[in-house]
Amino acid sequence: MSKQREHWGSRFGFILAAAGSAVGLGNIWKFPYITGENGGGLFVLIYLFCIAIVGIPIMIAEIIIGRSSQKSPVGAFAALAGKNSNWKYVGWLGVFSGFIILSYYSVVAGWALNYTFMSLSNFFDGKSPDEIGSIFGVMYGASGINLFWHAVFMMLVIGVVIAGVKSGIEKWNRILMPILILIFVVLAIISIFLSGWGDAVQFVFYPHFDALKPSGVLEALGHAFFTLSLGMGAMLTYGSYLKKSANVPKAAMLISVLDTGVALLACMVMFPIIFTYGYSPEAGPGLVFKTLPIIFSEIGDFGMFISFVFFLLLVFAALSSAVSLLEVVTSYFIDEKGWSRHKATLITGGAIFLFGIPSALAGSSALFPEWEGMYGKNFFDTFDYLASNWMLPLGGLFIAIYAGWVMDPALRKAEFTSGSKLTQSNIYIGWLFFLKFIAPVAVFLIILQRVGLIDIDALLR
Ligand code: PHE
Repeated sequence: MSKQREHWGSRFGFILAAAGSAVGLGNIWKFPYITGENGGGLFVLIYLFCIAIVGIPIMIAEIIIGRSSQKSPVGAFAALAGKNSNWKYVGWLGVFSGFIILSYYSVVAGWALNYTFMSLSNFFDGKSPDEIGSIFGVMYGASGINLFWHAVFMMLVIGVVIAGVKSGIEKWNRILMPILILIFVVLAIISIFLSGWGDAVQFVFYPHFDALKPSGVLEALGHAFFTLSLGMGAMLTYGSYLKKSANVPKAAMLISVLDTGVALLACMVMFPIIFTYGYSPEAGPGLVFKTLPIIFSEIGDFGMFISFVFFLLLVFAALSSAVSLLEVVTSYFIDEKGWSRHKATLITGGAIFLFGIPSALAGSSALFPEWEGMYGKNFFDTFDYLASNWMLPLGGLFIAIYAGWVMDPALRKAEFTSGSKLTQSNIYIGWLFFLKFIAPVAVFLIILQRVGLIDIDALLR
């Protein structure tokens, strides 16, 4: 294990890769629909606030833990806190979360691949809106199709990760991220010419105070976590490939701004279409897969092309996020077990594919048909629930506590300030305050709400 650790080719490469991890299904699929469900403007404002006061501080903490130890999560906590300390279980939780999240994330990404492919074959030509909307249900119940695209997507992810940090992950993010941002900007500009644009701006940016329930605040906070890839060591692992010369607070700011920018762009592409054609913004998780194709079909000949581009972007965004999920799992075996990257990627990627099979078959109930009856949710939803509601917030809580209260203060400060010319002592103190107090309390509240131990709606009524 005395091998030289791989590093990013440049600081910009790191920023693109980390932004690639952050920008994913969370931004394009989930953010618009939860914004729609929570009434728009005020929810968006609170989400931005959560990114600023909880997300950015924890992201800085993760990157610092990774860079100072130059290890992936399990090794990082062992190196900083001592080999026998319990903190390494936080690293374990991260590896485990990465494994679980990728297993079902790949299934949703597979749907995006499927819709990209269907766009090539003119799938909504000559169909009524109802028929187009019902295609999602047909696909969801088709076990072979789900399995096929899940397999294709996992092969893409493995293909990127196996090539290594610089010539795999960094290279692909350098290609995919600029294309993604550029095309989104173009789509958002096209949307300006739709008659529903004004309504969309009003909906997304104007705070309507009666439209948001207090529990929406917690949903905004939880989403800030998921969308910035925090709480499972993805940013920690990417930070471990970073050289000392990088300015971590500045990088974290940039990554968060890019991530938030794409989420808002996604809204400004989707809501103008939705308002122009008179659909409801509250369509829920089906917003992307059910509503948008209906709307694309109404655009005319050009609609099929827009549909193709849109779903291809969704695949790109999902791929760059999935790569970071797999890298957390793979790097554990490379760093701690001394496996070659080749072996580690194939074995962990293969295992994740296998574990994802019941998720791919959840819609058809072809496997574990009794699952839902026994546990209340199908296989897919069970693991999504476990990961997003438990594992990420818990991981984030422990990371904030470790970096804020346990980590060697001198090392923490040196890591925070290294790579910048300013001493940044006010900024440092501000960061530490958010990390020690604000972030843990906020995350603790989400956990309590999610388990149902408190009901914020009732408390504030
Ligand atoms: N941030 C990604 C998204 O928005 C998801 C993700 C979560 C990726 C955790 C890595 C780690 O889709």
